[in-house]
Amino acid sequence: MSLLIKNGEIVTADARYKADIYIEDETITMIGQDMPVPAGAEVIDATGKLVFPGFIDPHVHVYLPFMATFAKDTHATASKAALIGGTTTFIEMCCPSRGEDLMEGYELWKSKAEGNSACDYTFHMGVSKFDDKTEEQLREIVADGITSFKVFLAYKNFFGVEDDELYKTLTLAKELGVIVTAHCENAALVAELQQQLLGEGKTGPEYHEVSRPVEVEAEGTNRFATFLEVTGAKGYVVHLSCQPALKAAVAAKERGVDITIESVIPHFILDKTYAERPGVEGAKHVMSPPLREKSNQQALWRALEAGLIDTVGTDHCPFDVQQKHLGDGDFTKIPNGIPAIEDRVNLLWTYGVSRGGLDIHRFVDVASTKAAKLFGLFPRKGAVAVGSDADLVIYDPSYRGVISASTHSVNNDYSGFEGMEIDGRPEVVTVRGRVAVREGKFVGEEGRGRLLRRSTSSTPEKALV
Ligand code: URP
Ligand code: ZN
Ligand code: ZN
Ligand code: ZN
Repeated sequence: MSLLIKNGEIVTADARYKADIYIEDETITMIGQDMPVPAGAEVIDATGKLVFPGFIDPHVHVYLPFMATFAKDTHATASKAALIGGTTTFIEMCCPSRGEDLMEGYELWKSKAEGNSACDYTFHMGVSKFDDKTEEQLREIVADGITSFKVFLAYKNFFGVEDDELYKTLTLAKELGVIVTAHCENAALVAELQQQLLGEGKTGPEYHEVSRPVEVEAEGTNRFATFLEVTGAKGYVVHLSCQPALKAAVAAKERGVDITIESVIPHFILDKTYAERPGVEGAKHVMSPPLREKSNQQALWRALEAGLIDTVGTDHCPFDVQQKHLGDGDFTKIPNGIPAIEDRVNLLWTYGVSRGGLDIHRFVDVASTKAAKLFGLFPRKGAVAVGSDADLVIYDPSYRGVISASTHSVNNDYSGFEGMEIDGRPEVVTVRGRVAVREGKFVGEEGRGRLLRRSTSSTPEKALV
């Protein structure tokens, strides 16, 4: 099988030029000017289009038992929505709860994904406790090619770890050369504030943010940074949402802590007034960390443009309207999360590049290349280069559309971004050399996605293939 993409303008994290791309089987094998059409090759004309490396979403939830229910997706539905939105690889949070066995959790998440995803995927391994079995199990999971961990400093007694467990996880990660991603909020403060607010009869979704103020996130971020500093481990703050947390993380970077920062698309686009809408309208916009006061959004955009924020993910975590009603009369019971996997790239393009001040190369870096580098996928993913997997997004910047639940593909009955305009969309998307999206529609092969086994500094990639 071969494919020739002609006349497109290739844009990567560090280059922009017009060239043709030749793909044989699953791999880019030639990039050049005015390439002749090899016999039998399918030709895609990309005149007037931008050709990006397939985008990588470093933070999604697909299978997720959480807050007395389950997130709405299957790997089939999430991967199709991802591809339509230009995401060709996602990294799912494998999240066994504290009461579950870690290895059983890992096997369960793998079995949910296997043979069901249309795009490639891998996992961050959630560490929700550290008991006598944990170290051995984590060594085994890392040897299986899962070379990043996830810890929650929030969700006490469910996903959350205590400080001594955080220390042990980071110490092991340092030894193994594994990066640790962290949800940074102070769990005790959240629990106390929630009880206080409920006791005062403050039960609506508008109190979700009040129960998780910016100080709670700044404390979690600073604590994580401090633990990284002491252990020497490599860390990654997930879904950083506000200026005080940003300040804590950037201060840590400046003093040489090995810390990187992810923010997620809802926090760039939406502010807390969405969650302050009455009843279930507000509940649709409840996530953690919560949507913030508008000034934080400006701070995130400026930090992204300046290179202080490293990646933009989604924290895709869909619950439908009926599930959001679980929190009627008690905001602490609203399932936290919002669907975004389909919209991340178009929103970042529209409000970052097309209408904002985000450099086009930064756009590619934060939405693809940097995640590939941080999580052991580069240059197989995140690049348009000879030898890389042929995951490509042929993007049409002249497309104009509006996001709506009535037209989206994501498996949910509302969109948190309802009515928002987009200034472009993926026209054609390829995954390892096969066309998965044409004219914005999924035409790919269900279940073709592969688990990406990754390397660490101590396990060269070749050994894992
Ligand atoms: O509200 C959110 N973010 N839901 C998903 C779980 C998490 O904290 O990432
Ligand atoms: Zn989180
Ligand atoms: Zn998450
Ligand atoms: Zn540039």
